[in-house]
Amino acid sequence: MNIETLEDEFGYQLQRAYYVERAHVELLAEMAADAATDDLASRFETHRDETERHVERLERVFEELGRQPRATRSQTADGLAESRRTRFDGADGESPPTYVDLEIGLAAERLEIRSYEGLLALAGRLAYADDIVEPLEETLEEERATLGKLEALEMELSIVDSLETGHTEQ
Ligand SMILES: [Fe+2]
Ligand SMILES: [Fe+2]
Repeated sequence: MNIETLEDEFGYQLQRAYYVERAHVELLAEMAADAATDDLASRFETHRDETERHVERLERVFEELGRQPRATRSQTADGLAESRRTRFDGADGESPPTYVDLEIGLAAERLEIRSYEGLLALAGRLAYADDIVEPLEETLEEERATLGKLEALEMELSIVDSLETGHTEQ
C-alpha cells in the first residue's frame, strides 16, 4: 500500500488496528483458557468479548469509509503472542505465572491505546465525521479502563507479594 496522503496513513493504521484487535481476540482466549486464577481468567474473558466488539466497530469504520476490512500485519502484536508462548508451553494443563500474563496483558492494552490515539489524531486532522470518530473513541475508553484495572491488579498483587516476602515499600 502506497502511503502518500493523510487518508492513506489513516487507512494503513486502521488496517493495522484491525490486525491487532483480531490477534487479541485469539490471545485473550488463550489467556482466559489457562490463566493462573479464576479472577484473571474472567477478566481476560470479559475483555475478549469487548475485543470482539472492537473488531466489529472497526469493520463499521471501514464501511463508513467505503472500504473492505483488511488487516495489515503488526509485528508488535505477533511478538506479544509469541513472547507468551515462548515463556510458557502450556504443557500438562499448567498455567503461566500471573506476572507473565499481567506483563503481556498490560503491553497489549498499551499497544491498542497507542493505536487508537494515533487513529483519532489523524481523524481529527482529516475532519472525519462522528460515525468514524465515535466508535474509535468508545473503544479507546474501554482499552483505557482495561489497562487501569490491570494496573490496579498488578499493584494489589505486588503489595500482597511484598507482605509475603516481608519487603514493604516505604
Ligand atoms: Fe481492543
Ligand atoms: Fe484491549
